[in-house]
Amino acid sequence: VSGTVRRIAILGSTGSIGTQTLEIVERFAEDFEVVGLAAGRNIELLIQQAKQFRPSRVSVTREEDLQPVRDGLSDLRCDVSTDARDVACSDADLVVAAFAGGAGLQPVLAALERGADVALANKEVLVMAGEYALSLARCRGARIVPVDSELVAIHQCLAGQQRQALRRVVLTGSGGPFRTAKPAQLATATPRDALAHPNWEMGAKITIDSATLMNKGFEVIEARWLFDLEPGQIEVLIHPESVVHSLVEYVDGSWLAQLGIPDMRVPISYALGMPDRFPLPDLPPLDLAALGSLHFEEPDLGRFPALRLAREALETGGTAPAMLSAVNEVAVEAFLDNRIPFTAIPTLVEAVLEAQPVRSGLDLEEILSSAREARDRAVSWIEERFR
Ligand SMILES: NC(=O)c1ccc[n+]([C@@H]2O[C@H](COP(=O)([O-])OP(=O)(O)OC[C@H]3O[C@@H](n4cnc5c(N)ncnc54)[C@H](OP(=O)(O)O)[C@@H]3O)[C@@H](O)[C@H]2O)c1
Repeated sequence: VSGTVRRIAILGSTGSIGTQTLEIVERFAEDFEVVGLAAGRNIELLIQQAKQFRPSRVSVTREEDLQPVRDGLSDLRCDVSTDARDVACSDADLVVAAFAGGAGLQPVLAALERGADVALANKEVLVMAGEYALSLARCRGARIVPVDSELVAIHQCLAGQQRQALRRVVLTGSGGPFRTAKPAQLATATPRDALAHPNWEMGAKITIDSATLMNKGFEVIEARWLFDLEPGQIEVLIHPESVVHSLVEYVDGSWLAQLGIPDMRVPISYALGMPDRFPLPDLPPLDLAALGSLHFEEPDLGRFPALRLAREALETGGTAPAMLSAVNEVAVEAFLDNRIPFTAIPTLVEAVLEAQPVRSGLDLEEILSSAREARDRAVSWIEERFR
């Protein structure tokens, strides 16, 4: 759009955010050069993407996938590795962080270390190491721009306004598939029930996080670091239609909100193009008259304790949010494998956060070792109770 070609690398190119990012890149091909793609295990799709976008580096997670990918890409001049940091450290100006979970932390830090801008979907990075990542970005002159629709909404509502006039931000959330479920239904919810999100099609982990409301808690932590807010300035409202993506209130009582259809291609294109906007004329328009009404309600912390736990971890600070993210990841995996019930996810998170001492979290090694310890504790907790 602006006439300069942006060199981009995508961490998690085979996932929900990754494939939608490539869709935008394909539409506006003259604005982008794809220099790196990092996948996990879906090497078939990675090979197909690499043939189309011709990056100079790709990565996979498993050693046994190296040779098949090298063979698949033998016509291209493309380095293949098992370390996503190699992709993050390509010559990209912008690294799109779209891994799911803590696996994205080190590659994102490697990108920031190099001074590359990061378009961040992988919220767990800021949950685990928000203060560390932001100070690294400042030091290296790198920007972290959000991709998450709620955070992109806040970004737009803050743009051009006086910062001292800000009263608070309000993150909206659909409430997920169990918004109206009774406690007894939550106790027997299956992965299939929890994966049936009413408004958004996303990867499995974030879909479960949306069902527990942990995802909203993660966004509170993400917002705290991205926009340098006090935790008390960040509120959450449940909004089942997912049309108002978030809101900001100013000291004079004025509210600004950002609205749009629930389609991640819109916030992704904002993050890729900023300050330009890419025209997306073929997306369905937002038809407010057809919708007729929009609804808002307080989140129910009784049925969804994960949101409270995330807030408490933010208040506690130090390594508590890194532990929160690490335990939650183990719990979500176990739930998806039918090893623990849905309601055990927050119970497990709370048990580990209560048991494990919190450290200052200023140093990366401390963050990583606290997260490892929390994972180990979570694994033992599951083994003891659900063997
Ligand atoms: N999807 C959304 O609409 C949405 C909205 C807002 C924020 N986000 C955030 O964006 C991030 C990505 O979400 P998503 O929905 O795109 O997830 P997803 O569909 O599960 O995709 C995850 C991507 O990361 C790759 N990956 C590589 N190593 C991995 C590892 N060790 N563990 C897990 N994944 C690994 C996966 O590779 P393979 O598939 O090749 O294995 C895949 O490309 C998450 O942090 C999520 O919270 C997503």
